[in-house]
Amino acid sequence: MSATHHVRAVTPPEVEARKGGIPLVCLTAYTTPVARLVDPHCDIVLVGDSVGMVLHGLPSTLAVTLDMMILHGKAVRRGLERALMIVDMPFGSYEESPQQAFRNAARLMAETGCAAVKLEGGESMAATIQFLTARGIPVMAHIGLTPQAVNTFGGYKVQGRGDDSERIARDANAVADAGAFSVVFEKVPEQLARRITDDIAIPTIGIGASAACDGQVLVVDDMLGMFTDFRPKFVKRYAELGQDASAAIAGYARDVRERRFPAAEHVFGDNPKAVDSEDAA
Ligand code: KIV
Repeated sequence: MSATHHVRAVTPPEVEARKGGIPLVCLTAYTTPVARLVDPHCDIVLVGDSVGMVLHGLPSTLAVTLDMMILHGKAVRRGLERALMIVDMPFGSYEESPQQAFRNAARLMAETGCAAVKLEGGESMAATIQFLTARGIPVMAHIGLTPQAVNTFGGYKVQGRGDDSERIARDANAVADAGAFSVVFEKVPEQLARRITDDIAIPTIGIGASAACDGQVLVVDDMLGMFTDFRPKFVKRYAELGQDASAAIAGYARDVRERRFPAAEHVFGDNPKAVDSEDAA
């Protein structure tokens, strides 16, 4: 007899209901092993289009395709049991019309098994968000610094300072009114993040937007310190995996060159009775 073990995943309405409660925990993941690591600790796992920069070495997220998101979405799906999985809609896959957005979001959901999508834009995307949510596609919005608009902004700059705060406030209200179940706030001043978090009825998930938000998201590779040369102010490093990996690789190279690896314990003997397993001597 075998017991089936089934863990119920967090749903978009459950995330929405967490407004003002215990902060929501979200990290990105792009692969099965990382999804397995983050799943027990996160409410939400985002397959972000940051995958293009983080894993594929692209200079921005603009060249990320729907097929890339589907490939990484499928990989992440295999590693998740309980967190809500959200997949980013890449640049060019939703801006043209609500119909285009629906077609591509439906593909993302059907092929990856994600329960929601994320797309960038505020007021300008409200009609699209409304169209998707009315047709069974839960949407997480993304406002403030929207990296797909890097060329319009002229860089990855803080948004919503001074008079510009009204634009971001309008965006926040527009996506909430359109039916988004949560909204990512990227790189906005603390005062604005607090004001909008108090004003709108859906959870705000901050990245570079202070602890005033209803939750936080980081790119997992950033908080693990995978990149030795990338240290944005809004990232806290919880590990230095880049440095550790570099030291480990240097150690391996040294050992190979000095014939210290493989050592006796890594080598197979020639006893025909030895058990044919990974561990057999
Ligand atoms: O693509 C991404 O990883 C994101 C998060 C940083 C919010 O959009």
